[in-house]
Amino acid sequence: MDLIHPKANDYVDQYSNATPPVLKAMYEAILAEHPHAHLQSNWNQGGFLAFLSKMLQPKYIIEIGTFNGFSTLCLAEGLADGGQLDTIELREEDAQRAQTYFTQYGQGKSIQQHIGDAKTIIPGLPHLYDIAFIDADKTGYVDYYTLLKPKMSPNGIIIADNTLFHGEVLEEQISGKSAKAIQAFNEMVVKDEETEKIMLTIRDGLTLIRKK
Ligand SMILES: C[S@@+](CC[C@H](N)C(=O)[O-])C[C@H]1O[C@@H](n2cnc3c(N)ncnc32)[C@H](O)[C@@H]1O
Repeated sequence: MDLIHPKANDYVDQYSNATPPVLKAMYEAILAEHPHAHLQSNWNQGGFLAFLSKMLQPKYIIEIGTFNGFSTLCLAEGLADGGQLDTIELREEDAQRAQTYFTQYGQGKSIQQHIGDAKTIIPGLPHLYDIAFIDADKTGYVDYYTLLKPKMSPNGIIIADNTLFHGEVLEEQISGKSAKAIQAFNEMVVKDEETEKIMLTIRDGLTLIRKK
């Protein structure tokens, strides 16, 4: 189920311009060619990530779930000089396609790709992050949050995608495995007294979380 009416989606695209226009061809190519293209952030969400990144000018960014790299390149927009973006992808094929786009569109940005399970990779990363974007398997969200929280800089922001999970979390009986995992994640986050959080109705739900 699409929570945002397609006409509303077209409208916000028409009246926004924060998504880097240079990424349009890559975005459209992934939509047209990838059998799981629905996994990609939509155009407007990419713009939101780019806008936020430019506002925060982060030194270090981490992304869990690269896919083909559209959200990565949006997040990299505001990367401070000398900064680095670590992005983790389980599937080698997707990581390889992302790498070709990073070579084409990521000049001057330090994007470090990691291939494998984020749960084993995150603990070995040395930085304190200003932005973390969680957008991988929904059953892993609680673990990603727990692993990332101590790795956030004092004003760092964790962004969690799909926190409305196609509206399934609004049902009285939540049945799907991923929807149940997102519900458990949302419950954990809202009860975490060390953080403040705001859930936004962008695309499939985006929650922004910051240590108090
Ligand atoms: C929703 S897609 C990411 C979309 C991307 N962030 C974007 O907006 O274009 C989720 C990605 O997470 C990857 N993934 C799933 N489980 C993972 C894990 N345990 N570690 C790292 N990546 C994982 C999947 O292979 C998939 O490419």
